[in-house]
Amino acid sequence: MIRTQAILLKNGRIIDPANRVDKKASLLVEKGKIQAIFSPRQKTPSLPKKLQSIDLQGKWIVPGLIDMHVHLREPGEEYKETIETGTKAAAAGGFTAVACMPNTTPVNDCQSVTRLILEKAENAYARVYPVGAISKGLQGESLAEFGEMKQAGAVAVTDDGKPVTDSQLMRRALEYASNYNLMVISHSEDYSLSRNGAINEGFVSTSMGLKGIPHIAEEIMVYRDLALAEYTGCTLHLAHISTKESINLIRLAKQKGSPVTAETGPHYFSLTEKAVKDYNTNAKMNPPLRTQKDLEAVIKAISDGTIDVIATDHAPHSILEKDLEFDQAANGIIGLETAVPLALALFRKGYINAARLVELLSTNPAKILGVKGGSLEIGSDADIAVIDPEHSFVLHEKDIVSKSKNSPFIGVKLQGKALLTICGGRITYNAISD
Ligand code: DOR
Ligand code: ZN
Repeated sequence: MIRTQAILLKNGRIIDPANRVDKKASLLVEKGKIQAIFSPRQKTPSLPKKLQSIDLQGKWIVPGLIDMHVHLREPGEEYKETIETGTKAAAAGGFTAVACMPNTTPVNDCQSVTRLILEKAENAYARVYPVGAISKGLQGESLAEFGEMKQAGAVAVTDDGKPVTDSQLMRRALEYASNYNLMVISHSEDYSLSRNGAINEGFVSTSMGLKGIPHIAEEIMVYRDLALAEYTGCTLHLAHISTKESINLIRLAKQKGSPVTAETGPHYFSLTEKAVKDYNTNAKMNPPLRTQKDLEAVIKAISDGTIDVIATDHAPHSILEKDLEFDQAANGIIGLETAVPLALALFRKGYINAARLVELLSTNPAKILGVKGGSLEIGSDADIAVIDPEHSFVLHEKDIVSKSKNSPFIGVKLQGKALLTICGGRITYNAISD
């Protein structure tokens, strides 16, 4: 990683919804902090002698993106991804921070694993916020050590990858977590309905001869967890929302004033179940890709505020888990390096404006997780992404930074890209040719 003294990002479009800023200006980074923002008409502040100056005409300068749903696979499955490779992929996607899920080996259900992750992340390419498990060993039986994990640096708890089947355990998790100011993240799935399913249940699953996962498997658990959040008064975050009826339920809960937030992944507003034709295991994930009707509902929820966050659910798997019969292949796709162009497609089609895009990918995840970043406040740590909204490219497997290559977007032409990522004043990714 290159260390930089001072960087001047010149004449970009600064988009910082937290401070209601959207203007053409320059931004000075010095000593790891955002030192000044000044528009062309304003007086240039005194600049340090040794300065790396980058012209960013036509580019966006935004707060570093924050992905609140990432599987880094370390400890335990380092052949798929490590904290180093995963954060390097994050930086290449414009992210300066990621929250990493606890379904590692061993599971992050106690302070020693949380500490290990944070130690390994010290020299990583992005800030890493560990998310602890709700239940010990993700077994769904007894609560993990929330207090210890919080003290060690965990920002939230979840059994992501698995549902918490026992409603009493989920209720206790909400109550217990709120004592420690920990966010509970729900992986909403009724396992008795989804078990052994490979893709969304419907015409496509029937015609492909695959067992389906009905959309109601998600919605029943979304409903249960919304009801528990309302009953306990504790905050809840719903992960990877993929169906129209889940969205209707979240919208109603929010109207009632429930303390809930929700995320979706870029794949749920970019692809439908049809992407699994030809039995492409790189389009297999849990929850599965849904129908056009669901995709449209997800987009509407993104634009009307029902969905608060775009999070990738970056889930690296090697060919050992993916190069198999469809129903045997692992669930999950990588997402860190394609989130920006996929979110930008929503902007280009007019569903969201630029400020909303930044809210979804930075401001809101920072707020929900209660972590630094999410704004370009003067004096704050310089966590910044520079995005070229015009840059078109075809995603080639050889260009993927993540250790795993399980993306359904390989060979697809995408538009928009992170060009430069700065984390705490250090350049963590630089694709600007000068
Ligand atoms: O597709 C998925 N992959 N969904 C999950 O819930 C877990 C994740 C993984 O860990 O691979
Ligand atoms: Zn996940």
